[in-house]
Amino acid sequence: MNNQVVVILDFGSQYRNHIARNVRDCGVYSVILPWNTPAQTIREIKPIGIIFSGGPNSAYLPGAPMADPAILDMGVPILGICYGMQMMCQMLGGQVARCRHSENGAVMAQINPASVLFSGTPPKQQVLMSHSDEVIIMPEGFVATAKTDLCEIAAYECKEKQLFGVQYHPEVEHSIYGKYLISHFLYTICHAVGDYSMQDYLKAQIEEVRSRVSDKKVLLALSGGLDSAVTAALLHEAIPGQLLCVYVDNGLMRAGESEEVCSTFAYLKDDFLYVDAKDEFLDALRGITCPEEKRRIVGKVFAHTFEKVAKEHGPIAFLAQGTIYADVIESGTKQSALIKTHHNVGGLPKNLKFEGVIEPLASLFKDEVKKLGQILNLPKRILSRQPFPGPGLAIRIIGEVTEEKLNILRHADAIFTEEMKRCRSKPNQYFCVLTDTRSVGVTGDFRTYEYTLALRAIETSDFMTCDFARLNWSFLARVSSRITTEVKSINRVVYDITSKPPATIEWE
Ligand code: XMP
Repeated sequence: MNNQVVVILDFGSQYRNHIARNVRDCGVYSVILPWNTPAQTIREIKPIGIIFSGGPNSAYLPGAPMADPAILDMGVPILGICYGMQMMCQMLGGQVARCRHSENGAVMAQINPASVLFSGTPPKQQVLMSHSDEVIIMPEGFVATAKTDLCEIAAYECKEKQLFGVQYHPEVEHSIYGKYLISHFLYTICHAVGDYSMQDYLKAQIEEVRSRVSDKKVLLALSGGLDSAVTAALLHEAIPGQLLCVYVDNGLMRAGESEEVCSTFAYLKDDFLYVDAKDEFLDALRGITCPEEKRRIVGKVFAHTFEKVAKEHGPIAFLAQGTIYADVIESGTKQSALIKTHHNVGGLPKNLKFEGVIEPLASLFKDEVKKLGQILNLPKRILSRQPFPGPGLAIRIIGEVTEEKLNILRHADAIFTEEMKRCRSKPNQYFCVLTDTRSVGVTGDFRTYEYTLALRAIETSDFMTCDFARLNWSFLARVSSRITTEVKSINRVVYDITSKPPATIEWE
């Protein structure tokens, strides 16, 4: 792609994806790179701006991550956020120290009207602070551009060198003018032209796939979810006749799901293949209780199944997947902690018997994938599907996965889904988790000792953070009553009232 680019150097911030999405929402392409990326690599990308993210370290301690100093002399505007601001200060001869009073949450900031960065925003505005360190002495040539009751230097800038820093987080919604500030940084300071759109992305990906694949064949792992459906439509447009979409029934799907996927993609005719691999998956998962191991096993069995299909229908040179940016980032990069091995990233064996892997959505966020799906005219039914993890019900059953537990969970989940379908507004994602806890109950005159089922329903815009859905009590009561009456092995239903963070959306 020949778009203008903004580089985000990641110092370990949980908000790095928010920064990247905010930039893209402004019509400017952004990439997240590790904090220690050499200046020369960044120079070759020719970014119009650089953003240093926040991070958990203290810039004044030995061993704290520091950007390549040559980046500060590249003449490219830089915005340092939180740790990014403090690190820049320390690198340029200023001083950072522990705060006397940490600030956590939304506070009011007073803005210096002469600020270039804050130009066009009100003199008082709400910002989201989350810090225990602060800049106490600014580097030479810098002026303070914002302060709060507890933080004297809540933002600073050096207009001459085009270096800017904010102690707060403009990338999150609680900072009321945060989005405006990022847009102003991009358009006024970095001179962005706003040349990033999903239409352009689609065109560029189609060209890239065509040139990489040439006249060879591609096998697409089609799960029926949004990501793989969009990948299928994109590849169908790029290389019609060279594509084999394979749906692997791993026995870990929800009730009626395999039938629904087969009917949805029936239009692909000979390009669609249903493979029954239920036994292989369940055999491989027998006795396994560790969530990460379950994920890796599912990834491995998927890959072997695809290799087998490729042999039978070959020669097939490439494996295509609907991997998206969040899968890549949350699967752990050098600079961020491993949260979960998404089956389609960390789960693939290193010696995969394909010439290469094609992942045309690997740099997109979920909402961008949806936009792409709209451009590709996918039916609403697919566009509005909730995400379903590749390892399926294996990671919604805590502990060992067995046929019996799968049947219990499928039955309960079908009831929850049926009840939810009757509601006018639905949470962004909802499902059941079969815990490995059994508890005592009473049915009629008899003691029972059965499973506890957890209901999970969340609201989110990007699935990287979420809030638990405030479901109506009578709705929850109805679901609980139906499940405990209709599903024999469940005698207790609980509702998960945790957000992400600190929890994740799935339990494993
Ligand atoms: P977590 O549990 O990480 O989930 O907060 C975030 C979103 O990703 C989905 N998810 C997955 N999707 N492969 C996928 O394609 C996976 O391995 C996987 N694990 C989680 C999850 O349902 C939620 O929407």
